Amino acid sequence: MTMRLEVLTKNLHMSNIGSYNERIKDFDWSIAEKELDYQPGQVINIGWYCSDRICRMGKADKQALIWEGSTGAEKRYTYDDIRRLSDSIGQYLRDLGIQPEDRVCLFMDKVPELYIGFLGILKIGAIAQPLFSAFGDESLLVRLENAQTKVIITQKKHAPKVRKILAQLPWLKYMIIVDQEPGKPLQEREVAMNMEELPAAETFQIYPTKAESPSVLHYTSGTTGQPKGVKHVHYSLISQYLTAKWVLDLRDDDIYWCTADPGWVTGTSYGIIGAFSNGVTQCVLDSGFSAESWYRFIGKHRITMWYSAPTAIRSLMKAGDEIVKKFDLSSLRHLASVGEPLNSEAVIWSEKVFGKPFLDTYWQTETGSIMISNYPGMKIKPGSMGKPFPGITATVIDPEKYEPFAEPGKIGLIAIRPGWPSMMRMYWNNEETYNNKFRNGWYLPGDRSSIDSEGYFWFVGRDDDVINTGGHLVSPFEVESALLEHPAVAESAVVSKPDFVNMEVVKAYVTLKPGFIPGKDLDLDIMNFVRKKLSPLAMPQEIEFIDALPKTRSGKIMRRILHAREWGEEIGDTSTLEND
Ligand code: WTA
Repeated sequence: MTMRLEVLTKNLHMSNIGSYNERIKDFDWSIAEKELDYQPGQVINIGWYCSDRICRMGKADKQALIWEGSTGAEKRYTYDDIRRLSDSIGQYLRDLGIQPEDRVCLFMDKVPELYIGFLGILKIGAIAQPLFSAFGDESLLVRLENAQTKVIITQKKHAPKVRKILAQLPWLKYMIIVDQEPGKPLQEREVAMNMEELPAAETFQIYPTKAESPSVLHYTSGTTGQPKGVKHVHYSLISQYLTAKWVLDLRDDDIYWCTADPGWVTGTSYGIIGAFSNGVTQCVLDSGFSAESWYRFIGKHRITMWYSAPTAIRSLMKAGDEIVKKFDLSSLRHLASVGEPLNSEAVIWSEKVFGKPFLDTYWQTETGSIMISNYPGMKIKPGSMGKPFPGITATVIDPEKYEPFAEPGKIGLIAIRPGWPSMMRMYWNNEETYNNKFRNGWYLPGDRSSIDSEGYFWFVGRDDDVINTGGHLVSPFEVESALLEHPAVAESAVVSKPDFVNMEVVKAYVTLKPGFIPGKDLDLDIMNFVRKKLSPLAMPQEIEFIDALPKTRSGKIMRRILHAREWGEEIGDTSTLEND
């Protein structure tokens, strides 16, 4: 069976992790604490670890961040630059009256201010709340409301979305615009901040955060209810530093490229914290995807470590093998992937064209760092997520008994014993949902998998209705709520449908209010309506108008039936169906 095909990686080189089997024996997180000179009870501040400490290690003049914009413009920052500029941003926020634990939202494209501002926020003990810059006003509103965000840092092109909802955000004291032209008038609550021109903060003192001090608040979507704010703490650094070192295999001479946007957890855990705390040089490409521009970027900067996502890899596959030969990609040493199932074809293809396979890694916003993974030097089974990171006790449990299966090969729920450093500490103001994620002392990420006789995990699917489109989680509930606000929509049900590149995309079944007639224009109008309100990711790729939605006798819409229809699956038990 090709899915179970076993290949040995060619890169059985000496890696940071060394032997996985040796590492899992007697593993203790104090390994990372010692490497970071951290003693329990002491001050621990991610902002300091990602800049000041690296400077103190003699790398002040080393390149920390090489940024390229969509027009080809380039900006470079050394570790001393990011230390100095994050101090200045921290001081600027303090002068505005921002207190420790206040939520400061970063709502920007992948510009340098996002990366450096993130460190500045953490340095003053405030909580960084990154939000994806393509979010529309409705997506923004629910997340800023829930977090009672005090400041939002953004670019002028995104400012109109904030202005639109300002009246509904009484806690929001300031909107800081990082690229405002001098002399241009500002509106209510707006201030302009040019990072490069901020005064030096010579006497700046980093706030003495401790292990349990809150650091980052990331929003993630569930099946029901509004998105949940996942609260992380400064101690998460311990996991993020060590997983970046052992899984991403980051080394001093690496030129690292994490393609994720810091609006999502991969972009902060590994696009900021894991990278900078390991003192590597990282590159950021702030422009849309094209195979040509990605290969050019790797060749130009001589990227050695590339952390990406299955959707991007499948898009590259689609672009073909010939285009790869036009570029010099010989610098690539190590590749890894996260966010959705990495099919065996993609692993085998990458080994063929790049000479290295993409190693799959599995984790989620709540876990803060990689939980299950393939490791450099370890035998890879293409299509498998690999094995738990040392120190992580993960298994698959029977969904009925909440106990691990006695024999391998059974499909059940992924379950992880809590207690690793980067585990979320709470869903913001939502203790009930948080408590619901635990059973029998296990944390349940909400995914299904099996484990083979050699301990390798094989992802099966999610255990809820959340849609993972191109590695981004979309809540059907949020899309349905947005659809209902459209004047023509009476009812809707949102499900996923298969897609080669994105694995799955959003599809909406819609019934119309009297007087509205199905048609192409109405399709597009509804799609655009959702795109503007939520985001391009959440926009249905297809709208199907139907006369009535399948419902239970109690009136609940049965998404399951529509889902089965899209995926060509058995419909299963329909005994509770209303129109039976
Ligand atoms: C899914 C992204 C299959 C899974 C870091 C998880 C994966 C959700 C993989 C988290 C993988 C992540 N194979 N599925 N290697 N990695 N997922 O919170 O359903 O945006 O629970 O974090 O993506 O998505 P999140």
